[in-house]
Amino acid sequence: MRLFGLWIWILSSVLALAAAEPASRVAVKSFDLNITESIGAPDCYAKTIRYINGKYPAPAIHVDQSDRLRVTVRNGLESEAISIHFHGIRQLGTPWYDGTSHVSQNAIPAGKEMTLEFSVKDQSGTFLYHAHNAMQELSIFGAVIINEPAEVRKTLHYDDERTIVLSDSWHNSSLAQETGLLGAPFKWVGDPQSLLTNGITLSPNCSYLPMPQGATTGGYAVTIVEPKKTYRFRIINAATLNFLRFDIPGHTMRVIEADGTLLKPTKIDHLELNAGQRYSVLITADQEAKDYWMSSQAMWRKASAQNGWSILRYSNAKTQESTPPAALPARGPEIPSWMEDQLRPLKPPRVPQQEGDTRFYNFSQVALADGTVRWQVADRVYELPDQALLLQHYNNTIKNLPAASKPVSIERGRVVDIVLQSSVGNLNGVCEEHPFHLHGHSFWDLGGGNGTWHSGIKADVNNAILRDTVTVYPYRSAYFQTPLPAGTSCGWRRIRFVADNPGAWLLHCHIVAHLVMGMAESFIVGESNIPALPPHFPIF
Ligand code: C2O
Ligand code: CU
Repeated sequence: MRLFGLWIWILSSVLALAAAEPASRVAVKSFDLNITESIGAPDCYAKTIRYINGKYPAPAIHVDQSDRLRVTVRNGLESEAISIHFHGIRQLGTPWYDGTSHVSQNAIPAGKEMTLEFSVKDQSGTFLYHAHNAMQELSIFGAVIINEPAEVRKTLHYDDERTIVLSDSWHNSSLAQETGLLGAPFKWVGDPQSLLTNGITLSPNCSYLPMPQGATTGGYAVTIVEPKKTYRFRIINAATLNFLRFDIPGHTMRVIEADGTLLKPTKIDHLELNAGQRYSVLITADQEAKDYWMSSQAMWRKASAQNGWSILRYSNAKTQESTPPAALPARGPEIPSWMEDQLRPLKPPRVPQQEGDTRFYNFSQVALADGTVRWQVADRVYELPDQALLLQHYNNTIKNLPAASKPVSIERGRVVDIVLQSSVGNLNGVCEEHPFHLHGHSFWDLGGGNGTWHSGIKADVNNAILRDTVTVYPYRSAYFQTPLPAGTSCGWRRIRFVADNPGAWLLHCHIVAHLVMGMAESFIVGESNIPALPPHFPIF
């Protein structure tokens, strides 16, 4: 009898396991993001900062490709509404969880909460999450890491990994910045006071006040490595203005990933990454066991905060550093490496044939009659609607939107080409760099060039990298070069994507100040195929 019982038990356990197998592949991983604000001094200057679960920057989120994420965002700010966007995550089939205020949802008011739930099954690599309401990107950002499946990981040949989040930081508040940007006379945000690594650095003028327990205070981030091991450094540019170069002295970097796409390992002597971009580089700790000063510094602008230091420390280092070398090299005309054009995908990209016309987006700065300054894209200064576009789709009110806010409609499944064409505005004769980011879709980067794009320029489909943020470089007349007359073309970049994700999506410059000034376009993809809103979706 006992034996019989055991048999039944074994049999039923085996059956249960077999039945559970497919279901157990999708694990739901829950994350609580409790947003609060209090005093902190990331670069040793005391100001109000935003913490997630008491951490600045926000804690990293690690998941496997097969996981489903359930993220509860609790807005514990004093008065500001907020939303949290997972940058580069496609939200395939879940457009309402993109976390983009005015587009996929209404912002979560202070004191309220919301749960996002989505899968990441077609994506892996290095991503980030950040606030996405007005100038808030400045204040909340953290890493998102989606592990490749074990058999892919093995082929990348590294022993361990480290995450390095770079950002830029101002001493004034994001609200003050926004007021200046949108007001008359126009007041530009200026260069950041500090470049942070993993949320901290030191600036020359410290103003530590009495700090609450656990407050972030300035210092230099330390990344510890063990001798002889090879590491995958995941480097994230969470800056809101600065295009950064990142240096690790004495060590060779081999870049292997860009925005979630694996690359042919390529040796680089420094990394260049634009706001919103992420790269993985391999480095081997095969040098003298000591501390090395890593640095980040702004490119393409006249000035850079000079405090973008952090430490690479060998675990067996005999002495430890505390004072960085005197200065970073002075700003000047950049040595044009056009790093994005040097990268090659690991696997031949399967770029679809172009369909239809190329959408040509010319953008430049404009001074409006009321004394304000804006950025226009294809002759329009984009204004985000009050009520989220996606919600307006369900309410059937998109047709009533003013021209400045109307989304462009794209049929589901269309292959869309976009040329991002940068021109000198009528203001300062300067060509700027612009990091362009698309929501809901990754796109193939079909390359860029100087001057004006024309249809005779062939797209480089064989080397296209599938990514979500690309640079329109200032090929000439950057801040430190001779100004050009208004209307002169600076340069362009071409992207292609398959509009396979019905929803409402933004294409915008990832310089937050530019986005606030209107440098955006919105799309409604597959209008008649947008799935129904989940029940109880918060409207706020
Ligand atoms: Cu990283 Cu629209 O955002
Ligand atoms: Cu821009």
